[in-house]
Amino acid sequence: MDSLTLFVSVLALPLGLLVLRTVYHLYFHPLSKFPGPKLAAATFLYEFYYDVVKSGMYIWEIERMHEKYGPIVRINPREIHIRDSAYYDEIHAGASRKRSKDPKYAIAFGAPNSLVGTITHDHHRFRRSLLSNYFSKRSVVELGPSIHDKVDKLIARFEQAHQAGDVLHLQLDFAALTADVITDYCYGWSYGYLDGEKGSVSNDLVDAVNGLMVMIHINRFFPFLISIFRNAPPTLLRWLQPNMADLFDVKARLRQQADDTLQKQSLKKVDSEARSTIFDALTDLELPKNERTLDRLEDESALLLGAGTETTARSITVAMFYLTRNKEIMTKLRAELKAVMPKPLSKASWVDLEKLPYLTGVVNEGLRLSHGMTARLARVSPTEPMLYKDWVIPAGTPVSQSNYFVHMDPTLFPEPEKFDPERWIRATEKGEYLSRYIVSFTKGSRQCLGMNLAYAEIYLSIAHIARRINFALYETTTDNICVYRDMGIGCPEVGLFGVRATVEGLVEE
Ligand code: HEM
Repeated sequence: MDSLTLFVSVLALPLGLLVLRTVYHLYFHPLSKFPGPKLAAATFLYEFYYDVVKSGMYIWEIERMHEKYGPIVRINPREIHIRDSAYYDEIHAGASRKRSKDPKYAIAFGAPNSLVGTITHDHHRFRRSLLSNYFSKRSVVELGPSIHDKVDKLIARFEQAHQAGDVLHLQLDFAALTADVITDYCYGWSYGYLDGEKGSVSNDLVDAVNGLMVMIHINRFFPFLISIFRNAPPTLLRWLQPNMADLFDVKARLRQQADDTLQKQSLKKVDSEARSTIFDALTDLELPKNERTLDRLEDESALLLGAGTETTARSITVAMFYLTRNKEIMTKLRAELKAVMPKPLSKASWVDLEKLPYLTGVVNEGLRLSHGMTARLARVSPTEPMLYKDWVIPAGTPVSQSNYFVHMDPTLFPEPEKFDPERWIRATEKGEYLSRYIVSFTKGSRQCLGMNLAYAEIYLSIAHIARRINFALYETTTDNICVYRDMGIGCPEVGLFGVRATVEGLVEE
């Protein structure tokens, strides 16, 4: 065989396989009859181009597909996307129906041993049961004084910023609050982000989430890169991608903490008097050994701290942006708050604040317009088909609906771009249950575990800060907080999500 023949035969095999695979995807795959562009059905390269090459733009391509093909679309060879807000609860069904994760998507978070990375329904159920009590409404209500303490510190920092004329990065200030709350709750001591220098300080948990965002689509297509980057020399990684280096630094620190705890446990040095923390639950000696590995503890800690910090801070930031921009809304909110907080520094509990309809409208709009995650977060029904109108979606198929489409559905939220707390009051008056469509935390058995904690932090921060602090926006417009890219969470066209502001004044009465 001459070298040309050898070359052609070597090339022919993969090409032949590719052609066969494409033909299978288009004509013989169980999803071949579903509507959608042929290119998206034939190859993952279509999605790759929009999400990796063009960086987080597939969401808009999916939007265009729905405009052309209707509410149900095959968006890649193996996934169905349904744009129908009423169907969200079926995709994210409760515990009575099994919902697994799509392994190809779950890997994107780079934490395969955490709750979000747990693929099968039953394994996830077991892991979640270890932590669910810590996040019940009752447990979070008991955490009230700890959250109040941190909100007070934040208000004191804003008062200092007023004196000093600092320009603040509100997202970082709120992330300092949420990071201190969650580290305290996980470990029994706080990293003390709120005790740092005055003015907004950088926060390595936020940097780590930014690192994850850079990687999120790349992780999906090239999961092997996660371990390559993880094992790369730290200086090289920092030179290549500083945010990613931050992510691995945080994970290494969490791993070290996990190791220290496990060592103490084996030496029986655990302080039995100390408050039981989430980390204690994860390292409980009663658990099977394969549930207490360092890999698992590192991943779960990274998830808890990352998830507990960024998203909550983001929804407080979005609400504060609109309250600052629209004085009329702020005035109405303060008027309502005076009923439970007669003085600017009065304290109110989460339970009391939740009863206030206008504040609830502000909280819901903050959650809605910050979207939680824009990632598709597909769910898989492992044994039964999912039914949508006349379509029978085969068991095992990843089915998704990005939160963004529900939150921006004009049939539910007219003028969806508008921050309008009163739409919630109007809906209640009409007997509509609109909060069903706040899907920032998703729904069902895989819903955000930290939802109660997030609500408590959001209510307490917005109420106490709005009652005391008058911000003025600094070189910030909706362009800085809008969703232009889907990098797991929404990102603007240029730079990172963020709101800059100065403290214009303190409310004295
Ligand atoms: C506004 C604030 C928050 C939003 C919008 C949010 C959003 C989400 C979303 C969308 C998921 C589902 C991810 C998936 O399907 O893969 C999730 C899961 C999770 N979140 Fe949150 N989250 C918030 C706050 C928190 C807080 C404060 C914590 C506290 C630690 C937390 C801990 C978790 C955990 C542990 C999971 C995994 C749950 C599971 O798979 O069973 N989150 N969150």
